[in-house]
Amino acid sequence: MSDNSLTITDNRNGRTYEIAITHDTIRAMDLRQIKVNPDDFGLMSYDPAFKNTASTISEITFIDGDKGILRYRGYPIEQLAKNCTFLEVAYLIIAGVLPTKAELEEYDGFIQRHILVHENIKDLIQGFRYDAHPMSMLISMVSALSTFYPGARNVDNPDNRQLQMTRLVAKMPTLAAFAYRFSMGYPIIYPDPDLSYAGNFLNMMFRRAEPKYIPDPVLERTLDVLFILHADHEQNCGTNAMRSVGSSRVDPYSATAAAAAALYGPLHGGANEAVLRMLYDIGGVENVPAYIERVKAGEFRLMGFGHRVYKNHDPRATIIKEMAHEVFEVTGKNPLLDIALELETIALEDEYFVSRKLYPNVDFYSGIIYQAMGLPMTMFPVMFAIPRTVGWLAQWQELITDSEQAIARPRQIYLGNDLMEYVPIDKRG
Ligand code: ACO
Repeated sequence: MSDNSLTITDNRNGRTYEIAITHDTIRAMDLRQIKVNPDDFGLMSYDPAFKNTASTISEITFIDGDKGILRYRGYPIEQLAKNCTFLEVAYLIIAGVLPTKAELEEYDGFIQRHILVHENIKDLIQGFRYDAHPMSMLISMVSALSTFYPGARNVDNPDNRQLQMTRLVAKMPTLAAFAYRFSMGYPIIYPDPDLSYAGNFLNMMFRRAEPKYIPDPVLERTLDVLFILHADHEQNCGTNAMRSVGSSRVDPYSATAAAAAALYGPLHGGANEAVLRMLYDIGGVENVPAYIERVKAGEFRLMGFGHRVYKNHDPRATIIKEMAHEVFEVTGKNPLLDIALELETIALEDEYFVSRKLYPNVDFYSGIIYQAMGLPMTMFPVMFAIPRTVGWLAQWQELITDSEQAIARPRQIYLGNDLMEYVPIDKRG
């Protein structure tokens, strides 16, 4: 018997089975052999919400939640945020290696070439109601891209995959800015090829009548770093949607629309909006202690605190907090910052939060920064979707090229009716 194995005794019939353990994991399919009768289906594992199920072997992102570690392709997030541009990190996440100078210049050129969207997208936008949520518009526009690029369906061709991934990374900021401008009633602004990825996004969002938009360097760099911090986070809800939908071999635009739809939910990409609403509710620093007492009494949760994976600090939150002060020197201080700082100070010393390992997460400060930059709360999930597209695409590519993967199709435990006899409608009830 191998040391790296699990011995299971089936107490229904006394039989034992030896199951291999690899990477601290057993293969669920190895349970299938465990049967009482030869025609039984075999044993399954039950795991709603995949709380203890690995759905893939991946080489993209590493998280150690107990130690507060996040790495893309092995590189610590702190080093990437300090030294790289977002496009450099996008290249790293998708290609698996950091680009050389020449490779980065070439990638930047590809992105610039694909940054525009078909003019008919503007007509699509005009079809929305004046108060349509920007994230709903973004999801629809991403999905619509599959109609403009029907060749994207050929997902098994590596060159074709590369082309579609570049297109999507390039077009996301353009679509996001279109959604914002429409919701504000502003005319659409076209991309400026002289600007960086983040700088151009600021241009498409905020340019008014000036002949040339010059982004503030602090805001441009902050946005770039925020994009780096949000680029991937292994198998979260949106990524799981990307992989699950992509496993049907649908085109990447349709799969990305599904991933963005998952991100739209308040339990996922909507948390930084919830943080802002909470800070408004609290109203002032003097109200923080009473608010904390209500959280401890179980009335509600402290939004932006706690994480399913990070049971130590969230490394992204540490980086964002440092940047917040630089941003406020440009934009003027967001009055909500004092409330947030007070909340954090009290919570980090309080036994309730300490014993439950509740620390500020990435969303605690990102909303305050986005608001200071002039973004409405409805744009927050959109700001998340732009960089996360890189992670979704890298994970999609990994799925498509993984020979162990097949169409995602979970099992169920059926507890509904036994066989029923059809009853004509006039005989029912
Ligand atoms: N405020 C107060 N108490 C909390 C909080 C919080 N934010 N989060 C967890 N707890 C408490 C729970 O009440 C529970 O206490 P108990 O043991 O006395 O019952 C304990 O901590 C464990 O909570 P779980 O719900 O089991 O923790 P889980 O890891 O499943 O939840 C989650 C993680 C959903 C993020 C949670 O911490 C939360 O709701 N936080 C607020 C929402 C938020 O900020 N979400 C953004 C996450 S980051 C992102 O999505 C990018």
